[in-house]
Amino acid sequence: MIDLQVTDKTHDEERQGEALIIDAPRVRNGRKLYIESYGCQMNFADSEIVASILLDQGFETTGDYKEADVVFINTCSIRENAEQRVRNRLSQFGAEKRRNPKLIVGVLGCMAERLKSKFLEEEKLVDVVVGPDAYRELPQLLNEVESGHKAINVLLSREETYADISPVRLNGNGITAFISIMRGCDNMCSFCVVPFTRGRERSRDPHSILAEAQDLFDRGYKEVTLLGQNVDSYKWKGKDADEDAGIEVNFAQLLEKVALVSPDLRVRFSTSHPKDITDEVLYAIARHDNICNYIHLPVQSGSSRVLELMNRTYTREWYINRIDAIRSIIPDCAISSDIIAGFCTETEEEHRETLSIMDYVQYDFAFTFSYSERPGTLAARKFADDIPEEVKKRRLSEILLKQQETSLYRLQQFVGKTVRILVEGSSKKSDQDLCGRNDQNAMVVFPAAEGIEAGQYAYVHIDRCTSATLLGTAVVEEPQIV
Ligand code: 5AD
Ligand code: SF4
Repeated sequence: MIDLQVTDKTHDEERQGEALIIDAPRVRNGRKLYIESYGCQMNFADSEIVASILLDQGFETTGDYKEADVVFINTCSIRENAEQRVRNRLSQFGAEKRRNPKLIVGVLGCMAERLKSKFLEEEKLVDVVVGPDAYRELPQLLNEVESGHKAINVLLSREETYADISPVRLNGNGITAFISIMRGCDNMCSFCVVPFTRGRERSRDPHSILAEAQDLFDRGYKEVTLLGQNVDSYKWKGKDADEDAGIEVNFAQLLEKVALVSPDLRVRFSTSHPKDITDEVLYAIARHDNICNYIHLPVQSGSSRVLELMNRTYTREWYINRIDAIRSIIPDCAISSDIIAGFCTETEEEHRETLSIMDYVQYDFAFTFSYSERPGTLAARKFADDIPEEVKKRRLSEILLKQQETSLYRLQQFVGKTVRILVEGSSKKSDQDLCGRNDQNAMVVFPAAEGIEAGQYAYVHIDRCTSATLLGTAVVEEPQIV
């Protein structure tokens, strides 16, 4: 049996809903914050901003909601089952609140933004509802709750990037960290709630991004992932009154600047949009060894007609052209995708076009979903959700199966070779083993060996693999092949 690692789940399933805590508390005996996060990496990065704001108010974090004064749940609205999960979790917090009526329960993030004050009516135990652009207001909102009122702020902003707030790292390994470079999305893909819950696109000042990367590196971090809903739309322009007046920075330039912080700092980024990813970005990746050869380039569907209904603004041919450009400019680049099965009106033939584009690209990895209608989106307003559940399910399983085979094939290509990895720490299954990712983002597990520690780059000879993991042996001498 090979491990099934591609399922209809949100990104990074392992981290969904885990308690987020800071390793080295700044204060003791402060009020206690319990925070957990659902959904995309942006939400996890936002939870670090939230924690930073509350730590400045004297809070400390706790991993046990039963001893917390404030419980926050940072939510995701992308699919209905993500919202259902949050509601189930809230009912558990409800039981705790009945035991301890002073407990403050807050809902943050996309569901807060989507449901606004409805949340306070629907979920009576919730005291505070805060959208993704209003986290600076949290201290005041908590004061309001303490003086006996329910509190809500779901205003979206055209400017807020939290550029000046230095995030605390939650559940960090001290080696890899996320840096948020932009917020919001202007793309209006017809299936997606994100433009409604996270507002308009805005890019963060590159000075603050570079300062954050430098600070992380100075503190021993070895990898940063630049995050945005659509990183290729990153565009920053110096304000007229400033010394940067007229200076513009695009994503390729930003990526390159971050890579120059140090050759020992690996740089990743996510998510790229097929309509926007430029050759300039690809050449920047090719030029710098420390920009990882890995691109997450969601295709969503292999059919041009479905892509048009999805308002993705590219065709199958355009997408294939971008794949060809990646393959020619960065020959050993890993590529991953997001794929939706059973979008409105999708025919069998169009579903097979999705399977055939998967054959063409041979993705290293894919996040796969069955279409879930989201209230208020363009698709919900314009098209019927007309593909029966069992058809969606069957199409999804065909996509999953193909991806499982391709992931295995991709990883098999490393067997017998030696790869360079950044050691992240003990493997999840055994503290006798270490793990880390290679340049192409493949997870490598190997027995701990003398002289190899978390935070170092190491060479590992790959002996075998599953469809999700490379298994190998550390190479202590300087190897020939990388
Ligand atoms: N139904 C199913 N999948 C969706 N995604 C976004 N919205 C929906 C939806 N309504 C998927 C897309 C996106 C990923 C983050 O989630 O594939 O790229
Ligand atoms: Fe949603 Fe499309 Fe924006 Fe991604 S690019 S966040 S799928 S609207």
